[in-house]
Formats: sequence, C-alpha cells, structure tokens
Amino acid sequence: MAMERESFLGQLDLISSQLKEKLAEVHSESELEKLRQEYFGKKGFLSSLLKKLGEFPSEERSELGKKANFVKEELMATFQVRERQLRYLRYERLAEEEWFDVTEPPLPFPEGYHKKGEGHIHPVSQVQKELEDIFTSMGFSILDGPQVETDFYNFGALNFTEDHPAREMQDTFYTNDGFLLRTHTSPVQVRAMQQLSPPFRIIVPGRVFRYEELDASHEHTFYQMEGMVIDREVSVGHLLFLMHTLLKEIFKQEVNIRLRPGYFPFVEPGFELDMLCLLCGGKGCSVCKQTGYVEVLPCGLVHPNVLRAGGLDPMKWQGAAFGLGLTRLVMLRYKIEDIRHFMSADPAFLRQF
Ligand code: PHE
Repeated sequence: MAMERESFLGQLDLISSQLKEKLAEVHSESELEKLRQEYFGKKGFLSSLLKKLGEFPSEERSELGKKANFVKEELMATFQVRERQLRYLRYERLAEEEWFDVTEPPLPFPEGYHKKGEGHIHPVSQVQKELEDIFTSMGFSILDGPQVETDFYNFGALNFTEDHPAREMQDTFYTNDGFLLRTHTSPVQVRAMQQLSPPFRIIVPGRVFRYEELDASHEHTFYQMEGMVIDREVSVGHLLFLMHTLLKEIFKQEVNIRLRPGYFPFVEPGFELDMLCLLCGGKGCSVCKQTGYVEVLPCGLVHPNVLRAGGLDPMKWQGAAFGLGLTRLVMLRYKIEDIRHFMSADPAFLRQF
C-alpha cells in the first residue's frame, strides 16, 4: 500500500530525533561508524525512507523530497560535529597516555617542496644580509632595538610633540601598560647616540608596525632599515652618496635618483629620495603609479633637538639619517606586486626566491 504524506513526515521526524539522541550517547569512533551504517548506509533507515519517495505523486514528491533532503543534510552536519569531537577526545587521550619520542627524525618533506631539496633564506633576510655587507664594508655597525617601545623613543625624542599632527601619519598599537609597537626604526637613532660615543655610523634593520588599512602596498607589520652617520661635519652630499651606493648595489645596475623636500619632525632639511622606475624606465607604469619615479628613501639631516635628546651638542656634532623601506625594496627587486604575500602561509610564494 502506498504511504501517506503524514506518515512519511512522521517517520522523518522520528529518524531525526532518534539519531540526534543516539549521537549524544556514542562514545567511540567505531560506534559512530555503526550508526552511520544504520542510518545513512544503503539499507539504512534514512535511505529506506527516501526510497519510498517514488511512491508519491510528483507534486507531493518534490515537496517531501525537499524536506527530506533538508533533514538529511542537517543530520549529516550534526554527525560531522560529533565525529570531530570524538576524534579530538581520542587525540587528547593519546597525548595523555602515550609517551612519544621527540628525538625521532621528522618525515622527509614531499618531493619538490624546496627549490634545491633544502630550505633557503627568506627574501627579506637575503636583501637585509646584502645591505649589511654593503654598509659594514663602509665602516657601519649593525644595531638592533626593541620592537615594543616607549612613546619617548618612538616620538618624543624624535621631536614629535604631544599633539603633533605628524603622529597621525604613524598610528600604531598600544599596550595597556603604556608601551607601543614602534612605527619605525628611527627610535634607535636616539638609543645609539646615548650609548655610542661619536663619531659613529650605524644601520638598524628591523621589524616595525603601523595601524594600517591593509592593501597591496600597506601591511601592519613590515621591515625598515635605518641608517645614521654622526660626525663633526655631515652634509646632504654624504647622505646622497650613501643612498646612491646602496641602491646601485642592491639593484646591481646604475640608478637615477632625485631628491624632493619631505617632512619629518626629526630631520632638517628633510627629503624624499625617489629612484627612476626600473620597470618602465620613467615612462610610467603601475609600479611607479604612472609617475616614472618610485619613492624609496625618506631622509635628511638630524634635527638639533634630536641630537640634544641623544645627549649630543648640536654645535659640535652633525648627523644624517635615512629610513629605507626594506620590505618595499624587496618588492621592487623581485617584482612582488602585493605586500600581503609576505604574510601568507603558502610555501609556494617563498619557494620562488
Ligand atoms: N622614520 C621615517 C618613517 O618611517 C623615515 C625617516 C628616517 C625619515 C630617517 C628621515 C630620516 O617614515
């Protein structure tokens, strides 16, 4: 005898509530597997009920079919959740019960995982190392500084007053106990003046942070390299020579540069150094945003207030400083079009370098 619509729906309901109850009582993956067969297997409760759909006239069949499928999907999802819970519990038990040998060698990486069958250095570290070589060969020392900084070193000592609008260009993350994540490597300028005796030359490669709207050229975490020279007489000429040399060496070719005025409270005069776009040769392309030049190096002569904050007498000492966007330079050198790639967990990105 053909089945009634009401009885079909009744059975569907029953199957659904029974299965949910049983799922809650199941305590092992093998029990779970049995349930799966009982309900979803070829001759299982649900499958058998679904087969009866064929006995209904077509209008009713499509309505009941939809309902039944909806219930089936819901049940399968509940099933999966329980499956995951049980697996997790099993792992937890395993971790508690089993001692495992931490000296066991790891499984080999899959074929072709690394370029030459072994790991290699990250592109940012590669360029950083090259820069360190270039600068140590010119008598520079390499310094490091804290990434969690004080307002004093990140702003105050660099001639940003409390409510200076330039602070807005470098919004950052603050900790609850009064520290901040440094927005640039410049705080090390003052730390260096306090610790080294002049004259000296330093570079400071390192990680910096900004509160940014993320896009292809903005990340909240990136790398810079500060450079600073303190001596009796330092001029813009010295600064230009250093920056020109740096760019030539990194790009392994002659580069054309230009200097524009730029504002930073800790330098006077301050500049932006641009490089003629290597991709289009100055004609204009997407990398140089159709201007023919790319902005690579903000720089200037160290402001007397900053020398004072570092404990140096501006009548005796002068300084030049630049703040290289290290991540930016790496992108230009390897033609990486989106800064967010650096944060991606996909090894395919890193394997290219
Ligand atoms: N610290 C500045 C920035 O991150 C760059 C800079 C460094 C400018 C040194 C001048 C001198 O924007």
